[in-house]
Amino acid sequence: MPYVGAVRSVRVRVPAKINLALHVGAARADGYHQLSTVFHAVDVYDEITATATQDGAVNVDVVTAHGDPMPQVPVDRTNLAVRAAVLLRDRLDEPDLGVHLHIRKRIPVAGGMAGGSADAAGALVACNDVWRGGLSRHELDALAATLGSDVPFLLHGGNALGTGRGEQVTPVLSRATFHWVIGVYADGLSTPAVYAEFDRLAGGRGVNTPDEPHAVLAALGSGDADALAVALRNDLAPAALSLRPELARGIEAAGPAPALASVVSGSGPTTVFLVPDDESAELLALDMRAQAVFDDVLIARGPVPGARVVG
Ligand code: C5P
Repeated sequence: MPYVGAVRSVRVRVPAKINLALHVGAARADGYHQLSTVFHAVDVYDEITATATQDGAVNVDVVTAHGDPMPQVPVDRTNLAVRAAVLLRDRLDEPDLGVHLHIRKRIPVAGGMAGGSADAAGALVACNDVWRGGLSRHELDALAATLGSDVPFLLHGGNALGTGRGEQVTPVLSRATFHWVIGVYADGLSTPAVYAEFDRLAGGRGVNTPDEPHAVLAALGSGDADALAVALRNDLAPAALSLRPELARGIEAAGPAPALASVVSGSGPTTVFLVPDDESAELLALDMRAQAVFDDVLIARGPVPGARVVG
């Protein structure tokens, strides 16, 4: 019998993102909006296990953290992790390469935390490893940008300033770990629908160049959670609220303390609450679970690194 070698498998962990600042300009000719945003990676992770095959097939299955099926996530060619694997295979010009991707999801689906983009970033790193593709981080960046605006950031993680449509990322150093409580809704919001609502509310008067998020960058530099609380800003929040008025209840759910501030994450509906420390996070999460305003409540810290091989 010929020796076929051991089946190669690799496990990659990839974080969710929240936007500490999301300044949105007017729609561009290509339909995207010019952004000036500060990304922050938090320790809510999806895990992608890639197993190499030689049959040229790329397929995926997606389960919850408890191993239950997730029928709401497509597993066909529209799945962003599948698109990432196919894109990398084309780039490597090796049509016989195949892979099975097994995704264990903790990042909320259609929640404004870039769960689909995280899986794309994770699939790029996993397939580059399992296929021994040898592409550099810089080369993966170029592929990432074609998959989605948030994908390059999720390769890097940490904190970063995002410009262009969000795909141009410049790392930002931060002195501190920040603590978050995350309110998750079972029903997601469509990102294009939220941007369309943003345009409708702006009535075509959107600014061409969004202003720079100086206050958030300064708060990251000094590591001051109180300063960050005052600086948090999301220009998409009114659009998310307009499409889903009940978000107002969630934003108020934390009450005056111990939350320092709350902000809708990305295009929503996930809402995040900044707290001073781990203990406050536990207390607030307990209180918010009892109020049952959200379908799920998570505790998170950031910043954390981007997509990484862990096994
Ligand atoms: O880049 P990505 O595929 O994640 O974007 C999803 C959708 O969000 C886009 O099709 C567009 O409608 C909207 N979007 C936008 N401006 C951005 C990023 C996303 O209008 N800067």
